[in-house]
Amino acid sequence: MIAENLKASNQAALLDGAVVANQIKEQVKREVESLVREQGVAPCLATILVGEDPASAVYIRNKIRACEEVGIKSEHHGLPESTSATELLELVRSLNARDDVDGILTQLPLPEGIDETVVIEEIDPLKDVDGFHPINVGRLSQGHPQLVPCTPAGVIELLDYHQIEIRGVSACVVGRSQIVGRPMAQLLLQRDATVTMCHSRTRDLAAVTRQADLLVVAVGRPGMIGAAHIKPGATVVDVGMEKLTDPAEVQRLFGSAAEKRFAAISKRGYTLIGDVNQAEALEVAGKFTPVPGGVGLLTVAMLMKNTLKAAKLRRGLIQ
Ligand code: GUN
Repeated sequence: MIAENLKASNQAALLDGAVVANQIKEQVKREVESLVREQGVAPCLATILVGEDPASAVYIRNKIRACEEVGIKSEHHGLPESTSATELLELVRSLNARDDVDGILTQLPLPEGIDETVVIEEIDPLKDVDGFHPINVGRLSQGHPQLVPCTPAGVIELLDYHQIEIRGVSACVVGRSQIVGRPMAQLLLQRDATVTMCHSRTRDLAAVTRQADLLVVAVGRPGMIGAAHIKPGATVVDVGMEKLTDPAEVQRLFGSAAEKRFAAISKRGYTLIGDVNQAEALEVAGKFTPVPGGVGLLTVAMLMKNTLKAAKLRRGLIQ
């Protein structure tokens, strides 16, 4: 609905994420049903949340709800903020050892004092549905991906669904996080794009990003990519998702399209905004993923796909 409204008044075509996410979940649901029927195996995802971070709690709820939708069993472990690294590692080890658990997801960020790297490295790589374990990161970088991080994998699905060429194009990834930027660059390379990575130390960012036919932005800085960063006609994928509550900032970023955003703020207290200035991108880009309604919906769908894949990998049903 949001996507359609925007499309009516602007040039760039909007890349709908919901239709892709739904298709992925439908496919997972069908495959889960046949796994249960033919192998007697019901995949199970264990989720872990340490502390009370409200945004993380929402993400976890969405993941559990998606499991219900596709027929994957889920088991949630909510631990207090005071949990020690030792206790968390013990839980991970116990989930590693259980045959009825196929996927383990520890919601990030973890509270200060717990080293995320140590926790990630403790997860059995075959149950690492986030694709963050060094084995899975290494496999991806060597060109033999197995379990791949959900958000960048979702971006690839979105591009494929909308038949956007990846092979041979000049692709630029802005942001070098473990969760999105780095694996995104690897996945694009895997698909034969010519990949440039930009980050906070890149000199003359706009001069670099303006070369890209395909621009993927994941920096967590609302609206920072504007018309000057975008090659006319490029495909722009906005992975950013921040809550904006300040009406003055909304006015600055949305201009004449701010009214709907003000309405969202009065209703919910915030409006969601990406890293790309939507009004400017729509004027310059050829294709563009809206926020909300673009990439955000794909992460959970890909988590379902990864959990199914993990269930099959562990049983030797696929390689
Ligand atoms: N926090 C933000 N994104 C993610 C994600 O994809 N996986 C996990 N585990 N935590 C996150």
